[in-house]
Amino acid sequence: MTVTDERFEKMKPFNGGMAAKIPSRALPPGPRWPSLLQSIALVRFRHQFVPAMHRRHGDVFTVRIMPKGSALVLFTRPEQAKEIFAGDPEVFHAGKGNAILGPIMGEHSLLLQDSTEHKRARKLLMPAFNGAALRGYQSVVTKLAKEEVARWQPGRPFRSLDRMNALTLEVILRVVFGVTDESRLAELRPLVNKTVDINPAVLLGWGYPFLQRFGPWKATVDNQRALDRVMYAEIAERRAAGDLHERTDVLSQLLTVGADGEAPMSDAELRDQLVTLLLAGHETTATALSWALYELGRDRAQLARAQRAADAGDDGYLEAVLKESMRLHPVIPMVVRHLMKPVTIGGVDLPAGTNIGPSILIAHSREDNYPSAEQFRPERFLEGHVAPNTWIPFGGGVRRCIGAGFSLMEGVAVLREVLVRYDVALPAGALDSPKVRNITSVPKRGARIVVQAR
Ligand code: HEM
Repeated sequence: MTVTDERFEKMKPFNGGMAAKIPSRALPPGPRWPSLLQSIALVRFRHQFVPAMHRRHGDVFTVRIMPKGSALVLFTRPEQAKEIFAGDPEVFHAGKGNAILGPIMGEHSLLLQDSTEHKRARKLLMPAFNGAALRGYQSVVTKLAKEEVARWQPGRPFRSLDRMNALTLEVILRVVFGVTDESRLAELRPLVNKTVDINPAVLLGWGYPFLQRFGPWKATVDNQRALDRVMYAEIAERRAAGDLHERTDVLSQLLTVGADGEAPMSDAELRDQLVTLLLAGHETTATALSWALYELGRDRAQLARAQRAADAGDDGYLEAVLKESMRLHPVIPMVVRHLMKPVTIGGVDLPAGTNIGPSILIAHSREDNYPSAEQFRPERFLEGHVAPNTWIPFGGGVRRCIGAGFSLMEGVAVLREVLVRYDVALPAGALDSPKVRNITSVPKRGARIVVQAR
């Protein structure tokens, strides 16, 4: 039996992960609608629903979500976010909230682990995301970005989200997986594209073995098996490669680290972490970049300022452009923790079993955190006025996004290549707004832009 067969054997139907029914009187106020309606509102219409609940119920409120009407208490103030991020990881679990992704990411995934397993995985992965490692990735990212923007056709409007998705996927394949062989890249691209195109209905259903023989479930399982085959082949070849220490990609580094006293990663662990990095790092970064291009395309003065920075090699300003785009258009709306014991946050007593989290959407749009919050003003991040725990697109604490530095490095490199080459504008009728795609919020019309050679 292969490792993949074992993985499929072990799968169980999704049971709501961390669901627990807590009586309403024990929790902060919230809507009294049926939990199905609240779930739909939270998942599909979060950009209207969450601000409306904040206006109506105040800084802390409870929503009830499917499948068991479990409670999710959302916090909106920076001091509350601080308490949550600093919470004891043995009490504030994060992995359970992501259980639905288990079939794709695998049981070892950093996103799904808690406690000792999470600590071990994080320790082994961290060196590949530190400052020195990030500097090592820069030249390949810049080369891929240059090749991508050289193909753009001046004067012809296009969906920047699609181009950014193609680019960030290429970055993952080459910089994270470290694949250089053209035929292997050609083999991987369609498999990886299908893997990232997650369908929640498939995720919910595919723990039932009989479903795996039909329609979209069969297609997903077949694709997973094919992807695993290629990934394990790549891992085996890389283990045997004599030049691992000279390679700068993430996989090669993960193969060389055995953090103090920790056993090195098994093939199954490596596979799970690579798929996790792919799913967590690809569309998120592409979305942030497409919003940045969209905002620059809307505002000639901001575009000129960013172009001057790109020409002068002022990466600090380009980073501020990205940070402000992520503030104004959070890619992920909230961070969730599952309480293993009763705790008090911001003076609110919460029983064990409650799901809680800071709302990124509200933190980024509060006027007391960001005056004229509706405006795109990258200067905010230069003036040094951004208070702690008000800018939280990457979450925080021991679970803070491990790829935060990676995505900023990648984003700056891509913006630089676009801006030194092109003027960016919005085509007529291209005003955009966020729409929910699975967990992330993406520009509804794909953040359409039009470029002209400078
Ligand atoms: C704009 C881009 C990105 C955004 C907005 C983003 C956002 C997030 C957020 C909100 C979390 C949860 C943090 C928490 O629970 O406190 C997270 C976790 C994570 N992200 Fe990202 N992310 C981005 C890019 C990336 C990239 C490029 C990678 C990898 C190459 C990555 C890998 C991960 C992983 C592995 C975790 C789980 C960390 C853990 O549980 O210890 N992300 N990300």
